[in-house]
Amino acid sequence: MAHWTDSYVTSIEYTKHYYHHLNPLRLKLLCLQQGFQYPRIQTACELGYGQGLSVNAHAAASDIKWYGTDFLPAHAKLAEEMANASGADIEVSGQSFLEFCSRKDLPDFDYICLHGVWTWISSENREIIVDFLRRKLKTGGLAHISYNTLPGWSNMIALRDQMMEYIDKVANPSDDLADQSKTALQYVNDLLAASPAFANANPRVQKRLGEMQKLDNPHYLTHEFFNRNWAPMTFSSVHDLLKPAELTYVGSSDYLDNIDIAHLNKAQLELLKGVADPAMRETNRDFLLNNSFRRDVWIKGPTQLSAEERSRIIREQRIIKVKTSSQPPQHISTQLGKVPLKQTIYKPVLDALATFEIKTIGEVENDCKHHKISLAQLVQAILVLNSTEWVVPVDDDSSIKNSISKSENFNAYLLNEAVSNQEYEILSSPVIGGAIQIGRMGLFYIHALKQGNKTPRQCAKFIFNTIEEQGQTLKLKDQPLDKSADALKALTLDAKRFFNQQQVLLAALKII
Ligand SMILES: C[S@@+](CC[C@H](N)C(=O)[O-])C[C@H]1O[C@@H](n2cnc3c(N)ncnc32)[C@H](O)[C@@H]1O
Repeated sequence: MAHWTDSYVTSIEYTKHYYHHLNPLRLKLLCLQQGFQYPRIQTACELGYGQGLSVNAHAAASDIKWYGTDFLPAHAKLAEEMANASGADIEVSGQSFLEFCSRKDLPDFDYICLHGVWTWISSENREIIVDFLRRKLKTGGLAHISYNTLPGWSNMIALRDQMMEYIDKVANPSDDLADQSKTALQYVNDLLAASPAFANANPRVQKRLGEMQKLDNPHYLTHEFFNRNWAPMTFSSVHDLLKPAELTYVGSSDYLDNIDIAHLNKAQLELLKGVADPAMRETNRDFLLNNSFRRDVWIKGPTQLSAEERSRIIREQRIIKVKTSSQPPQHISTQLGKVPLKQTIYKPVLDALATFEIKTIGEVENDCKHHKISLAQLVQAILVLNSTEWVVPVDDDSSIKNSISKSENFNAYLLNEAVSNQEYEILSSPVIGGAIQIGRMGLFYIHALKQGNKTPRQCAKFIFNTIEEQGQTLKLKDQPLDKSADALKALTLDAKRFFNQQQVLLAALKII
């Protein structure tokens, strides 16, 4: 049966995903690029943490004291289990926003984040959050709020209402929400199959529905589309709602989004130049790009840095390459098509980081000095490489030292769980203050290694036995593996490839 609490769907759990955009360390270069001082983050809070993977990874991999709340009991239970396993300095609560945000025992925060929450809650809950930001975010502190954006979702609003109406009036009330939403999706699909004028006027809708059906993930679909509240908003509306919290917009945590010339043509750039109001400019930009999701970073009472201070702090920031490919990325794909990345900049920068050695941006600048790359060009390249997960910021030495054992404990939990739960694909690294995608097979190989298996063949054998004990089928590149000699050979080869490619990086990240 479908069940909603405070108008939020609570009869089905959400997916187990980690969101690197929420890692506060990632926001440092964004702040500095805008000329704002990055706060020293000691206390942080995630509202609506879902299954709690992000909040736990960030607490395990840094020396920040984290708090968080999510009122779905199964979510809070798992988040608590992870917190106990890592021993991190984290308090995860199962309270509603109303209860949590009115607590008197919470500290003021340097960072408050929410991902995938704002659009799906009632306006009363949004007010509670704005008030929390007003009262509990320190001056100079950062907030990260992501949400479904207009105009990108405008053509889906009426259709989503139809699906909810179907659930209320037609769907079998004794079915669970996953089944009800499947039939609701089929209902609107049938409606669109009748070639309504609506579909002709909104050709993208059909594609979007097709994508939703293909996803076939009830955990994601029900939370995304079958909440009582679903309110995509323009940037200007969010900006207005946040006014009582007195926040200044910094930019998108997806750095690439901030680079206008990567997305807009000449005429569009010209048009935006004429929009003086910053909120209207952002909203106009979303119209130009038909944006449907935003990851907005805000700051309360920013301190503006002088040009010299800004350059000094940027040069001191350490970074590390986290992709093993030796071929630099050639282009990025945006609405302009394939935008080429200048190899005269990207190649020397990635060459300077090739051995996974941790370097300051100043050291990279020095390594590239014969290539005539300005600091502004270097920073832009690093932001693009951060956005595409090639290069990430590195935490300071004391935070790394303080987080090594918590991060190891958290990873031990994930590695054990990954044997039976294929949703886990990440491991945390104290070096980067958060987690990194490893992939399911990667988790298996690292698990086997940590259990004392030394060679790829020993690792492969261990994985076969462990999977068999669990009564599961192992798949390599989507192909099920039996327990034949050929299958063992294929798995051994894959383990060998994995360690050859990843071992140096994983050691640099203090994951193995
Ligand atoms: C779409 S999920 C996003 C979860 C997580 N941030 C993520 O991205 O994986 C929204 C989360 O907000 C929580 N939530 C919604 N309304 C809430 C409320 N009033 N109080 C506390 N948690 C709430 C839900 O339980 C759910 O886990």
